Amino acid sequence: MTDLSQLEAEISGRIAQAADLAELDAVRVAALGKSGSISELLKTLGAMSPDERRERGPQINGLRDRAGQAIAARKAELEAAELDARLAAERVDLSLPAPPERRGRVHPTMQVMDEMIAIFAAMGFGLAEGPDIEDDFHNFTALNFPPKHPAREMHDTFWLPEDANGERKLLRTHTSPVQVRVMQAANGKLPSWIAAGQQPPIRVVIPGRVYRSDSDATHTPMFHQLEGLVIDRTIHMGHLKWTLAEFTKRFFETEAVVTRFRPHHFPFTEPSAEMDVQCDRSGGAVKIGEGSDWLEILGGGMVHPNVLRNCGLDPDEWQGFAFGLGVDRLGMLKYGMPDLRDMFAGDPRWLAHYGFSAFAAPNPATGLS
Ligand code: PHE
Repeated sequence: MTDLSQLEAEISGRIAQAADLAELDAVRVAALGKSGSISELLKTLGAMSPDERRERGPQINGLRDRAGQAIAARKAELEAAELDARLAAERVDLSLPAPPERRGRVHPTMQVMDEMIAIFAAMGFGLAEGPDIEDDFHNFTALNFPPKHPAREMHDTFWLPEDANGERKLLRTHTSPVQVRVMQAANGKLPSWIAAGQQPPIRVVIPGRVYRSDSDATHTPMFHQLEGLVIDRTIHMGHLKWTLAEFTKRFFETEAVVTRFRPHHFPFTEPSAEMDVQCDRSGGAVKIGEGSDWLEILGGGMVHPNVLRNCGLDPDEWQGFAFGLGVDRLGMLKYGMPDLRDMFAGDPRWLAHYGFSAFAAPNPATGLS
């Protein structure tokens, strides 16, 4: 007959010696598995006499229970040790430098656009937008460009192929067509999906992309303008000059900007003017308030009576001014970027240098970051 205390001592010894969970499981199978030593003993109970079974039964069952408990206790011990070992091995070394962060940057044009809108918003202007793909009427005809007139050649237009109705759409050459849309909406002549509810008096700015077939250091085929439109009963050229002078001061955050107004011609304003900013572009960067260069940043003037009429407003009742500011050029001047083409070349190194953080502290002048 098997000596139970000897078997128990042997099993306890092996449990204690099991160095890891796999070894411990081997001990469990050898003792309590299907044909393990204790399981084999349990099987002998059936063939015993009742007296014998009464004596051996509790002994063998006791042995089975104690072996099971000892295995469970050792298992918990080994698991804890394994976790400790992992925690020690996988410790994070906080002294290692973090990998470089690759954050996106805000493009200077978008930054400048936001700054401009914030300044005009503070002056009481609303915001309107229009489509990039325009028709001849809004881009030219309504703006008093006579048919076939050489003034149309002022803008090197990207024309789209003729559509099913024989009409050729175009990529708008300026943001001025949105003036027309805003005035028509104000007049109630068109569904007012822009500047909803605007009635004269009108006071809006209109930011957006514009397109001309042109490319050099100060021209790119796609660029950005911010149009301004003010229509009321007594608005005059003085209001235009004050608004632009005030804008320029706030935008450049300095009085040291030298600007000049030059008489000009636009079919849709009378009188018309252009405004230049004095700057030095001789080095690798742009400096304002010095140098012998003048960078044209806007066109403007008093809205032509024909334009008012084309938009359904009575020129004997309403008058006002309009202007179109070059957003990218203002960015070049404020942030010292000498070549406009770099702005849209899509070079991430350029953007890393000239771009803005999306998480910067707000600028106290504009409330924008
Ligand atoms: N649309 C003109 C341009 O792109 C600028 C302008 C706007 C002039 C409004 C007068 C009034 O050159």
